[in-house]
Amino acid sequence: MSGPGAYWFGKEEMDAVMEVMQGGYLFRYGSETDPKFLHKVSDLEKKFAEYSCAKFGLATSSGTSSLLCSALALGLKPGDEIIVPAYTFVASYSSVIFLGLVPVLAEIDESLTIDPEDIERKITPRTKAIMPVHMLGNPCDMDRIMSIAKKHNLLVLEDCCQAAGASYKGKKVGIIGHIGAFSLNIFKTINSGDGGLVVTNNPDYYETAFGVHDQGHKPRRLGVEVGTRNILGLNFRLNEITAAVAIAQLDKLDKIIFTLREKRSKLKSLMSAAKGFKFRMLNDPSGDCATLCTVIFDTREQAAKVANTLGSKTIDQSGWHVYANMEHVLSHLKSVGQPHTKGSYTKTDDILSRAMNISVGVVDGGLGAGWGININSTDAEIEAAAKQFVEACK
Ligand SMILES: Cc1ncc(COP(=O)(O)O)c(C=O)c1O
Repeated sequence: MSGPGAYWFGKEEMDAVMEVMQGGYLFRYGSETDPKFLHKVSDLEKKFAEYSCAKFGLATSSGTSSLLCSALALGLKPGDEIIVPAYTFVASYSSVIFLGLVPVLAEIDESLTIDPEDIERKITPRTKAIMPVHMLGNPCDMDRIMSIAKKHNLLVLEDCCQAAGASYKGKKVGIIGHIGAFSLNIFKTINSGDGGLVVTNNPDYYETAFGVHDQGHKPRRLGVEVGTRNILGLNFRLNEITAAVAIAQLDKLDKIIFTLREKRSKLKSLMSAAKGFKFRMLNDPSGDCATLCTVIFDTREQAAKVANTLGSKTIDQSGWHVYANMEHVLSHLKSVGQPHTKGSYTKTDDILSRAMNISVGVVDGGLGAGWGININSTDAEIEAAAKQFVEACK
């Protein structure tokens, strides 16, 4: 059970790890004049920035630390409100809660990403930012989100942790807003076990994010900086071995997405023989990662029945990622005076109770996507899965 990149681990990743080990430099900094120092972390940052058409890239230890560095880079302060969707991974909330920000939850729509209409309703004089989460590899409705942000003078931190490789209207996610955070954990499109990335076009945001991730240092620790540092940082650095794996995976990213799109397209066309459901809305069908195939049934009874027949679960029953199943987050929301009980976000509750995730590339029971196909599935396996789905819908 993992993301598509892990299914494609091979010689490239192994050779890259051995190369770093043989060079002997495991830390992200090393002697620039020693050819044995391979500067994999810096290379990953450059390559990912290039891939994203971003001016700056930063490698971090995780998606969670990327979110935290990004929120600090934007200058968000304790007490500031940030609008976050009610369907996302816990880290979208915890990363900002740890900074003293107040997460204000907004409904999702049938794309299973944040509903722009509800964003507008949730804006208060304390709102400083929006965090669109490109959930399940599907880019959010960024045109509407950016126009709301512009109108209300808000900052936009894109949570791209589930969407490396996705694009919206020809632009890679992460640079449509002010800053974007990515994850390289095992369930993502590409992975290095753990790890994260940040992209931005703003030099000040980059410098702050860098300092936060590395004890307040200026980008790439150029020289002795005593007397010049104004950022207090922590250690969210990536190491050379992990970066070497991430680069090998990044080289496979476009092929991964291409393969997933082909497989999902075949699966969807065969599933269309069934009735009583629709596929979730895609804000940009040509930019979606195709890591999952999400279906929304007409009724919650039918959703539960089909999911049960297939040995799966509806999304609201699947555990993680659903606000109503995060008792620790609900308890925090209560302490800051935000709606904090199950049933507080009725549109989200309704959609998630009628929805089921089918794996295409990300096979993850925690997402409710323990059933489906994977990136290596053959045509016969895709046909068999579709047939099972159609039968279950009868
Ligand atoms: C939407 C979202 N945000 C943030 C994260 C956190 O990433 P990481 O596990 O790399 O810290 C994840 C990881 O599952 C995620 O799915």
